[in-house]
Amino acid sequence: MTQFISVIGYQLKHSVSPDFQQAALDYYKLDIRYEAREVKTADLLSAIYKLRQPQNLGANITVPYKEETLHLIDEVDDFAGLVGAVNTIVNRSGKLVGFNTDAYGFLRALHDDAGFKPENKRVIVLGAGGAAHAVCFALLQEGVSSLIIANRTMAKAESLAGSLAKHAANNKISTEIAAVPWQSSKLTEAGKSCQLIVNCTSLGMKGSPYEEESPLPSDLIPKDALVYDLVYNPPETPLLRMASEAGANTIGGLPMLVYQGAASFKLWTDREAPLDIMLPAARQALIKIGG
Ligand code: ATR
Repeated sequence: MTQFISVIGYQLKHSVSPDFQQAALDYYKLDIRYEAREVKTADLLSAIYKLRQPQNLGANITVPYKEETLHLIDEVDDFAGLVGAVNTIVNRSGKLVGFNTDAYGFLRALHDDAGFKPENKRVIVLGAGGAAHAVCFALLQEGVSSLIIANRTMAKAESLAGSLAKHAANNKISTEIAAVPWQSSKLTEAGKSCQLIVNCTSLGMKGSPYEEESPLPSDLIPKDALVYDLVYNPPETPLLRMASEAGANTIGGLPMLVYQGAASFKLWTDREAPLDIMLPAARQALIKIGG
């Protein structure tokens, strides 16, 4: 019997996950199809419900359903519960178990591809959505010295900073945590001495109304910082272009995307993800969609 894994989100025209996941499944000659399933909000409940059918091995969950899905499944692993978002579901004999592999993907790319050690570093995170939650909890657990969060909607930055501070206090983590207003003088001040800037907003994303925009002006990028953009299409976003011009190191979102997918692959198939197959397949798919 052919089995299925899907990516559920809206919209999925630009998703490269089906390409690199299918390449990995084919590498092992598994009779499994990885399919993109665009689902409107009103149909999310039934789409998740159907994942319990025996032919479904599980799913990836992407924008905008990572938070909502947490409440529609049977069990959530500890880290996904902490982050408050699920990006991977595994169907265990009709029971849906949720995981979050975004943080793993983010940290692996930070360590392996950018060669950056976050311990005791000063960090600015731009954005306060699902991706920012995973990134911030990952950085907190890595022992960064300070974490400044800036988001267009200040209340969301404050709420994320509050959850992080609570987690830090409960686990004796001494990271300094603050929310600052979007494009404010406080952000400029923090920018001068930060060592890592992570963009978790959708600014600069191809096909969005903000494709030409950068979340930071170029004069706010220190030349000895690492600038990490979670956006992977285009490979060089306006933020990364500016950062390179300022002399900073840069990393885009494609390695993270593939590493989070690799961790999901292992959860579904219990096999090591063939990264040397997945990475080129993802790059190829990006070229095909015009990245
Ligand atoms: P994800 O799961 O990828 O994090 P999300 O939860 O929809 O997706 O979050 C998108 C992030 O991009 C949010 O931080 C959002 O800011 P708001 O909380 O103010 O909505 C940010 N974002 C989206 N469009 C933006 C824009 N035009 N200017 C600034 N920030 C923007």
